[in-house]
Amino acid sequence: MSSVRIPQTGSVITDSASGSASSSKPIVFTASNPPLLAADQLIFMEEPDKALGEGTTGIVYNGLYLPTKAHALIEVAIKVYKEDADDDEVPDEIDFIRRIEGVKAEATTLMQFQSPYIIRCYGITITPIRICLVTELMKGGNLEDALQNDCLDSQPVKLKIALSIVTALKEIHKKNYVYGDLKSANVLLTKEKKAKLADFDRTALESNIKMSGTIPYIAPEAITGIQTKKSDIYSFGILFLELMLEDYQLFVDAFAAYYATEQSLLFFADVAKGKIAAQIDKLLTACKDSSFTSLITSCIHSNPEERPDINQIITTLNLLIQNASPKYTSASSSSAATPRMHSDADPVKRDKIIKRTPSRSSPHRILNFFSPSKEITNLTHHVKSHTMRKSY
Ligand SMILES: Nc1ncnc2c1ncn2[C@@H]1O[C@H](COP(=O)(O)OP(=O)(O)O)[C@@H](O)[C@H]1O
Ligand SMILES: [Mg+2]
Repeated sequence: MSSVRIPQTGSVITDSASGSASSSKPIVFTASNPPLLAADQLIFMEEPDKALGEGTTGIVYNGLYLPTKAHALIEVAIKVYKEDADDDEVPDEIDFIRRIEGVKAEATTLMQFQSPYIIRCYGITITPIRICLVTELMKGGNLEDALQNDCLDSQPVKLKIALSIVTALKEIHKKNYVYGDLKSANVLLTKEKKAKLADFDRTALESNIKMSGTIPYIAPEAITGIQTKKSDIYSFGILFLELMLEDYQLFVDAFAAYYATEQSLLFFADVAKGKIAAQIDKLLTACKDSSFTSLITSCIHSNPEERPDINQIITTLNLLIQNASPKYTSASSSSAATPRMHSDADPVKRDKIIKRTPSRSSPHRILNFFSPSKEITNLTHHVKSHTMRKSY
């Protein structure tokens, strides 16, 4: 694996702020900014085919970080913010500044939450060619991949993952933030399958939140521009359904038609027509345990006010964990008695399933619609009037 040292960062910031981007607002680094990590504190392992993952904002690589000379090197993940390749109108300097503002905002938000359920952020680093966020390395990868590869073998493990996600949400909501993009690809796992929430790129105070989310997790009201903490609860409901379905492929197939970016409007239209609610109902019938389905249906209630309080979800999950443990950890557990559709014992079938799975990690995030197009504005009217689906 090749490693590249990051050049000195301090002078770069001065150059880009006052030089090439002189017509823009200068970038001011103040005491409240996230730590700016220096070149000799980081070793960067940048090999495209060995990236840890990729999302809409960045590509994430392995790295090493030296906090001080007295410390040992720490393994880290380094997210390199991508250029805005889609927008030819935006000059490179402006794009560079936007990315700096983006990384600063993400790190500042992330660093407010010191929690075992939220990934730790060490700081940011900026060079003429890279703008990066440095976080703790999560060796178990993301939850979406773990589900696709059938790596989570028991209900208690899945329920504890769900509990960690909700506990992270509770801490975010307590500070009046909305997470804004809850999905399995943003939940990261340790080697021991403990979950932490990552990717605070869309997270903002409830009063400032911009429309954001990912198909199929985005709440119907968020599509209409009303995004609140309750929209995170909806997304959790969908994520919990994804987590607890015995046949993961059913979840992937149910929304496969919408994964390409250009299919977002089709998804919005189908929300309006009630087709998405119908798809979810179909998946719920495949979810055999009624205690899971009642939690899911309450979280995805069409009326955000009717969705449960975060503490109620935590209580329910704790009860489910207590009830599940003896049942599922014993050798004669029901999950052992009912073979899964694609298990580790059946690598051929599993491979086939993995290949059929469309890539869901990057293209299907709905970016902010700061100024919704006419088409979307019209649609929002339909979404508002047609989402009164079955009351759960
Ligand atoms: N700290 C980390 N440790 C391990 N893998 C990570 C880490 N951060 C991100 N990843 C991988 O990179 C992917 C994209 O990261 P994310 O922060 O969600 O970027 P984006 O904002 O572009 O969506 C994740 O789904 C995960 O697979
Ligand atoms: Mg992401």
